[in-house]
Amino acid sequence: MPLVTTTEMFKKAYDGGYAVGAFNVNNMEIVQGITEACQEQHAPVVLQVSKGARAYANHTYLVKMVEAAVIECPDIPIALHLDHGPDFETCKACIDGGFSSVMIDCSSRPFDENVEETKKVVEYAHAHGVVVEAELGTLAGVEDDVKVSAADSSYTHPEEVEEFVTRTGCDSLAIAIGTSHGAYKFTPEQCTRNADGVLVPPPLRFDVLEEVSKRLPGFPIVLHGSSSVPREFVDKINKFGGKMPDAIGIPEEELRHAAQLSVCKINIDSDIRLAITASIREHFAEHPDHFDPRQYLKPARQAVKDMVTHKLINVLGCNGKA
Ligand code: G3H
Ligand code: 13P
Ligand code: ZN
Repeated sequence: MPLVTTTEMFKKAYDGGYAVGAFNVNNMEIVQGITEACQEQHAPVVLQVSKGARAYANHTYLVKMVEAAVIECPDIPIALHLDHGPDFETCKACIDGGFSSVMIDCSSRPFDENVEETKKVVEYAHAHGVVVEAELGTLAGVEDDVKVSAADSSYTHPEEVEEFVTRTGCDSLAIAIGTSHGAYKFTPEQCTRNADGVLVPPPLRFDVLEEVSKRLPGFPIVLHGSSSVPREFVDKINKFGGKMPDAIGIPEEELRHAAQLSVCKINIDSDIRLAITASIREHFAEHPDHFDPRQYLKPARQAVKDMVTHKLINVLGCNGKA
């Protein structure tokens, strides 16, 4: 099937109590690792491209690689989405350039400016058969060149969501309930320790999610910053010469719970980076003589595939839903 929008996949996810994985793509091995897992698990998927990914890999290369995945994975719906579109011009370039979905992220601007820019993108996107994700509330962490400190982040105000969705006409809404971007989502001071001394992060604000959902019945909600930062990857990176002290993510059980509620799209990027880095560090430590990139990129691609397979089945619940 050709590239699809997220409309149908979100409706099925909402009704079915699961979420679709939205994975960031930056090169061929990442596209292949994700889509091979989804094809095997018969799972719908969103492949998303950030401003940084377009700068790194080039818009055309990314679109053509995703189009190749569509051909290679004929049984599953694949959407191509702009992640954190910073302005109308970037969204327009992606709408004109083959994407089926865009995010306009004006969440750090005042409410009325966010409404105006989002509305402008929605009008252009809908006229071209493309859907739009918008955001209300600010996540802490790093996205492209924008750094938001924990002090400047704020949970979504549920009382704003109906007006925002009505005025903008957006198709899905990203909200802030305590997730954040990157591999260091919480400081050790924000966490408690379990009996084994392992850091346990503060819980997500499910009360905010529930209040938003009450006000927007049937409307698809998106969670950004949803990598779990698996211990096994961090330990492997540290074991083989890396240095990632205190990396910590969102517990899988919390994401599974969100997926059963109104959250239809869960964004994962950092876990891909960690899977690749852990695999390559281990490979170089064990095979110091290797210099053919295929020798270390093949297991790295497999590590992405294994990680995504685990998410589809154990976190998102979207396996078998294509
Ligand atoms: O939200 C941020 C994503 O992880 C994309 O990261 O802007 O470094 O490509 P990037
Ligand atoms: P992570 O950094 O938690 O993977 O979040 C990715 C994301 O939200 C992309 O938009
Ligand atoms: Zn994000």
